[in-house]
Amino acid sequence: MSSSSPRKIIIDTDPGIDDAMAIIYALASPELDVIGLTTVFGNAHVETCTTNAFYILDVAGRSDIPVAQGAGRPLAMDFRGPATFVHGNNGLADISMPPQSRRPHQLDAAHFIIEQVLAAPGEITLVPIGPLTNIALAMLLCPELPKHLAGMVIMGGNAFCPGNASPAAEANIINDPEAADIVFGADCPIVMCGLDVTERTVMTSEQIGFIATLDNPRARLAAQILPHYRDFHIARGKNDGIHVHDSTCISYMLAPQHYTTVAHPIRVDCGDGVGRGKTWPSLRHLMPGGPWTDRRPVTILTQVDSAAVVALELQRLTVD
Ligand code: BDR
Ligand code: CA
Repeated sequence: MSSSSPRKIIIDTDPGIDDAMAIIYALASPELDVIGLTTVFGNAHVETCTTNAFYILDVAGRSDIPVAQGAGRPLAMDFRGPATFVHGNNGLADISMPPQSRRPHQLDAAHFIIEQVLAAPGEITLVPIGPLTNIALAMLLCPELPKHLAGMVIMGGNAFCPGNASPAAEANIINDPEAADIVFGADCPIVMCGLDVTERTVMTSEQIGFIATLDNPRARLAAQILPHYRDFHIARGKNDGIHVHDSTCISYMLAPQHYTTVAHPIRVDCGDGVGRGKTWPSLRHLMPGGPWTDRRPVTILTQVDSAAVVALELQRLTVD
């Protein structure tokens, strides 16, 4: 593979308004080659997420990209239920979509990931932007999977700030802490794009208004779904705009210079107490035999040049 080849990625996703943004951003970026989408429960039930994934690809003119459906529930608990108050009843701001007749890939998400990664060892980066159930299942089915990955760039977690789904935890992680703890223990390069930066990356109402002036199908979809997401943020007393969660993975891959990072091993709180789902970096010495021992350091994003990465995403939306 030449150094200028686009980076092959599989986006594991629960679309989801901000998932849709990340997908169309990636599809508009020649540095990236989206070789598949895998779907997971989260913002909506998995079947709805799969339908939405097909629609997003259709809008982007990329119906050639396969969609493999994955887990409908977490590994070790019941699904907490769709985030209709954030993403609408259909996961995409309740916009109307034509009926979808396409069928998902014959392999489920975990097997699809394994097949693709083993066919191109060292080339594929996983980009999980939903609960980490599919990735954990793939690792359980194929323990050698991480060593064949180029790496993972994950939206999830909160290292040095509060959670958004509970005081302790971020939404993707609290939706399946057991899976997340498996995935953060993978022996491959991992980047954690958590709330530490995503809640400091803000696309303003004015910028959403700018998207509405653009005349291409991807921008029209964005302009349709973003106001719903913005209204949720305003109702929660946040900024007059949106936090940019899932697109952060794409921005980091395109422009890592806009981020500051630290590296620490991570464990996920899988207990039943108030800390469930918290991503804990080990900041001090590792006690031999302790919970963080033998875990590879994860690259944790800690600071972001919000204006620069939002400008980059907007610029990619202007391209036909
Ligand atoms: C994450 O939770 C989901 O609702 C979003 O799509 C994003 O992946 C943010 O906490
Ligand atoms: Ca998501």
